[in-house]
Amino acid sequence: MIVLSGVSKIFASRHGAITAVDNININVNKGQIYGIIGYSGAGKSTLIRLLNGLEKPTSGSIIVAGQDIAQARGEQLRQARLKVSMVFQHFNLLWSRTVAENIAFPLQIAGVNKSQIQQRVNELIKLVGLEGRENAWPAQLSGGQKQRVGIARALANNPDVLLCDEATSALDPQTTDAILDLLLDINRQLNLTIVLITHEMHVVRKVCQRVAVMENGRIVEEGPVLDIFTHPKQPITQTFVRQIAGQNTPREPFNPLWVQGIGGSILKLIFPGGEARQPVIADVIQHFNVALNILHGNITQTVDGAFGELYVHMDDASQLENIVQYLNQKRVETEVIRHA
Ligand SMILES: Nc1ncnc2c1ncn2[C@@H]1O[C@H](COP(=O)(O)OP(=O)(O)O)[C@@H](O)[C@H]1O
Ligand SMILES: [Mg+2]
Repeated sequence: MIVLSGVSKIFASRHGAITAVDNININVNKGQIYGIIGYSGAGKSTLIRLLNGLEKPTSGSIIVAGQDIAQARGEQLRQARLKVSMVFQHFNLLWSRTVAENIAFPLQIAGVNKSQIQQRVNELIKLVGLEGRENAWPAQLSGGQKQRVGIARALANNPDVLLCDEATSALDPQTTDAILDLLLDINRQLNLTIVLITHEMHVVRKVCQRVAVMENGRIVEEGPVLDIFTHPKQPITQTFVRQIAGQNTPREPFNPLWVQGIGGSILKLIFPGGEARQPVIADVIQHFNVALNILHGNITQTVDGAFGELYVHMDDASQLENIVQYLNQKRVETEVIRHA
C-alpha cells in the first residue's frame, strides 16, 4: 500500500540545511497498522507530510496506493490526496460548524450531493459512536469526542490510508485507550491501512503490528511489534520498551525467597507472543480442576498476542507433568522452578 524508497527531506534554514528525513525505506501492507515512534524533532511529522503530499521529498520515491505522490502535480495530486486522510493531535475542527457539518465538509469539497452527504454523515456518526451529538458545537465536546469527529471527517471520502499524527497525545489515558480501540475497530471493519505517529510506546503496543523507531531523521530499528518488544537492539528502542515495563509490571525478577515458607510447586510460564492470546491460565484451571495462584508476572499484550513470563504456584502437584505438556502444546514454554 505504501512504499518509500530512499526518501530524504532537507530544509534550508538560517542556520544551514536541516535533514529532517534521512534516506528512509518503508513498506506498509494493506490493512496494516504501522507505527512510527520517536522523540520530538525526530522527523515524524515531516515524514507523514511527505506521505500525503503536503511536502515534496528532496530525493526518493513515495508510492501510496499505486500513485507516486512525490511526482504527482495538479489534478493528479488532488486525486491522490483524496486517498490519504489525516487525523491531528489538536483535532483541527471548524469551530463555527456543528459535528455533522464538520464531517460533511470534505464531502462538500468533493462535490457530493446533499442527500448522499446526509446519508454518509449518518453512517460516520454511528461508526465513531457520536449518535445524538450531531448538532453539538465542537466547543461542547470532550477531547475524545472531538477526536471522534476528526476521525469521522478523515474517513468521509473512503480513504485508502489514514495518517494519525500524535492523534491521542492531547488526551488522558482512558480516552487514549478508547480512541485506540476505535482505530482498531475501524481498521478491522474497513481493512483500512493506518500509519500512526507517536512518542508513546503504549500506543504502539496497543494497536500496531509493525513499528519503525525514528531518530535524527533516520529509521534506526524496524520490525514486527512483538520482535521489537522482545528483542530491542538500539538504546533508544530499549528506552521506549522500558516505558511500558515501567507502566504495568514490576521490573525486578522473581525472587524464590518470596515463597520460602509456602509449600507446593512453582511453575514458570514463558509466553513467546503470537499464540498466547487464548486465556491459557483459565484453560488450565478448568481443564485440570486445579487451583493456580499467580505469584509474579511480566506480561505485555500486543495485537499479535502476549509475551512475557508468569510464575504460578499450585498446592496439588499430581498433575504437574500433564499441565506442562498441555501448556507446551499451546506453545507456552515452561520451567519447573520447584516440584513439591
Ligand atoms: N518547514 C520546516 N523548515 C525548516 N525546518 C523544519 C521544517 N519542518 C520541520 N523542520 C525541522 O525538521 C526536524 C524534524 O521536525 P518534525 O518532522 O516536526 O519532527 P517530529 O514530528 O518528530 O517532532 C526538526 O529539526 C524541525 O525543526
Ligand atoms: Mg511532530
